[in-house]
Amino acid sequence: MLGITALGGYTFLRKAGLSYAGPVQGFDTALPIPPILERNNSGPEAGRYQITVENGENSFFPGYKTSTLGYNGPCLGPTIKVKNGEKVKIKVDNNLSQKTTVHWHGLHVPAKWDGGPRQEIAAGATWSPEFTIDQPAATLWYHPHAMGLTGEQSYRGLAGLFIIEDELSDGLDIPDSYGIDDFPLILQDRRFFDDGRFAYAQNMMDVIHGVMGNYLLVNGTIWPNLDVPKGLVRLRILNGSNSSIYRISFRDSRSFFQIATDGGFQEKPVELKQLVLSAGERAEILVDFGADAPGSANSLLIDQLPGNKFEAMQFRVRSEPGLIFTIPEKLVSIDWLEEKDVSKTRTFRMETMSRGIGMMKRGGQLTINGRNMDLDHINEQVKLGTTETWEIENVSAMMIRLPHSMHLHDVQFQILDRNGRKPPLSERGRKDTVLVPPGESVRIISRFDDYTGIYMYHCHLLEHEDNGMMGQFEVVA
Ligand code: C2O
Ligand code: CU
Ligand code: CU
Repeated sequence: MLGITALGGYTFLRKAGLSYAGPVQGFDTALPIPPILERNNSGPEAGRYQITVENGENSFFPGYKTSTLGYNGPCLGPTIKVKNGEKVKIKVDNNLSQKTTVHWHGLHVPAKWDGGPRQEIAAGATWSPEFTIDQPAATLWYHPHAMGLTGEQSYRGLAGLFIIEDELSDGLDIPDSYGIDDFPLILQDRRFFDDGRFAYAQNMMDVIHGVMGNYLLVNGTIWPNLDVPKGLVRLRILNGSNSSIYRISFRDSRSFFQIATDGGFQEKPVELKQLVLSAGERAEILVDFGADAPGSANSLLIDQLPGNKFEAMQFRVRSEPGLIFTIPEKLVSIDWLEEKDVSKTRTFRMETMSRGIGMMKRGGQLTINGRNMDLDHINEQVKLGTTETWEIENVSAMMIRLPHSMHLHDVQFQILDRNGRKPPLSERGRKDTVLVPPGESVRIISRFDDYTGIYMYHCHLLEHEDNGMMGQFEVVA
């Protein structure tokens, strides 16, 4: 039942009809829940964790094998779950035959443990970061970040969640039993060759527009199902795709409540019917299945903007209610940064040059402030302990209107405005990645505290990042 489609000389696996088409064989695989990474020691000293980056093989379709990369397994990685204030020591063994890095996306850690392109782990080598968690409860993630290899290594399977809890999150009366009423959903679209191999970026169009997949994986599985209690359910959603923007909704258009942005809880739940996440962004939502008939099904719809429409997974409501929760009125209070405290304003122009696209190669025409990423060049120096406004503009060259998704390492920022207007409620909170549509401009505010050193900022559309849409800021004392 899998069809084949030919495009630009390549043949890809394809299912027929993509208008929220249901699965070829029914939603018959249970959604895998990434295991929580076990601590290798106990007691009050730093928690010790092991991560091995390895080659693997996975079957995404019956009868097809795909060679993959994974952390502690063939595909994706375990969920790291820690408490604010906890000291962690992570031993990372790179068993690949090429370099990699492990970047803690959204974590506020010293620059040398950030896992960006400056912290390469050579093939066969080990890297042992250690840091103290010093930020509120949040759903963060980790992924590779070696120069020029981020897109491909991520595409082949490297990504995992990094969950922080704290006293406030413990005190909230919301679902928090991992895998029971609190579920991670890692969303990624993929394209496959007709022999089952991943069809990563093949040509310039793939680089410019990102590699558009025609299959949607949830936690590494196509068309999974998930049994949910008849009650309130928490979903921790990561857009873990390389370059896609997803609009997320439910088949019956029901409302749900967003409770967290990238870097933690919002002040109060935000009622929505659809949610847009660009590559790299996260959101936590509460969905109420309490009024659903036992045995009834609903599904998660994902629109790739612009692109395919996926009926990504199915929820099946159990007869047992689980624990009883109600939507809280209030979650946490956020220390809003204020413009009166800003000591410097910077402008970042994200630009795709129309000229020379046809001959663009690695390090070509995707720029920030007219420059390509250069590891030997520090683009910005930021003074430790200061607050800054960064104005991010998506400059659309004639004919080429591409979205970008700006991500800063080291900090959680706040969005001041989009095109001069206050951001939507769904973006009010701690953020580390922000969608900047073509022609738009977004102003963010951030404090640079605690650590000096060199960090990255870049477009989180990984094909853009790998092709130079990245820069470095150095926090100096
Ligand atoms: Cu999620 Cu610099 O990365
Ligand atoms: Cu990051
Ligand atoms: Cu971009």
